[in-house]
Amino acid sequence: MDKWVFLNGEFVPAEKACVSIYDHGFLYGDGAFEGIRSYHGKAFKLKEHVDRLYNSLKALWINLPYGQEQFAANIVKLMEMNEVTDGYIRVTVSRGITLGLDPKNIKGDPTVAISTDKLSLYPKSMYEEGLVVVTVATRVANPQVLEPRIKSLGKYLCNIQAKIEANQVGAGEGLMLTEEGYVAECTGDNIFFAKDGVVYTPPAFLGILEGITRQTVMDLLTEMGVEVVEKVFTRFDLYTADESFLTGTAAEVIPMVELDARPIGDGKPGEITKRLIEAFHSYVAKQ
Ligand SMILES: Cc1ncc(COP(=O)(O)O)c(C=O)c1O
Repeated sequence: MDKWVFLNGEFVPAEKACVSIYDHGFLYGDGAFEGIRSYHGKAFKLKEHVDRLYNSLKALWINLPYGQEQFAANIVKLMEMNEVTDGYIRVTVSRGITLGLDPKNIKGDPTVAISTDKLSLYPKSMYEEGLVVVTVATRVANPQVLEPRIKSLGKYLCNIQAKIEANQVGAGEGLMLTEEGYVAECTGDNIFFAKDGVVYTPPAFLGILEGITRQTVMDLLTEMGVEVVEKVFTRFDLYTADESFLTGTAAEVIPMVELDARPIGDGKPGEITKRLIEAFHSYVAKQ
């Protein structure tokens, strides 16, 4: 973690940034968060991340005492204080402090923590050779139970369980399905595949996070003249795809070359994926 942290309206040294044991985020996973990348000192898609955070908070009935512009300004100030160039910004908001689960007993403001750190999720070789992925038993939450478009703390228990399953068999990522068995997303990334020159990705209503990298990639593919279609599909479509890749703030764009011990296409990163990775890097370089 870098030197300074933003905590409840103040910039404090990281080692002094403490949260109550009665914090609802700690007790119940009651809150929302964002992970943001910084490229050459600028937070990537900052407005989109702050918008998504405020949408999550609105859906959860968590009200912050200040607006989005102030929130974004706090992030920018912290980045300056920590002299962040290329790194990761973690934003966490919880409902506040009380022991019982009833939110009406929370007297103060929500807890807000912002920190910055270094980030390198996968080694460079994995971007060149591609990721091996397995389907995990843990399903994404049913949207009628836990709306996946809320980037809530509690929802990530499923993703952590799924990640452990993937780790246990040495896979780079775990593919999560819906209850009905449709392809949803990976534990921290959205998924795409290409077939006959068209790129497909699951629709948001299926129970996935509407990834900010996902949208960036959909726009870049369209600019590249590649058609992108949101559709419901099963693992069969991935097994028989020409190529596949994952997208996320941390992972950026990474090829997926094997799923459940079946090579995807020829088992190497595909041409559209390679062009997209290049386009993504030049796009972030211009930010
Ligand atoms: C479950 C899940 N899906 C997809 C993503 C990708 O979203 P984004 O591109 O906004 O980081 C993430 C990462 O935040 C995630 O946790």
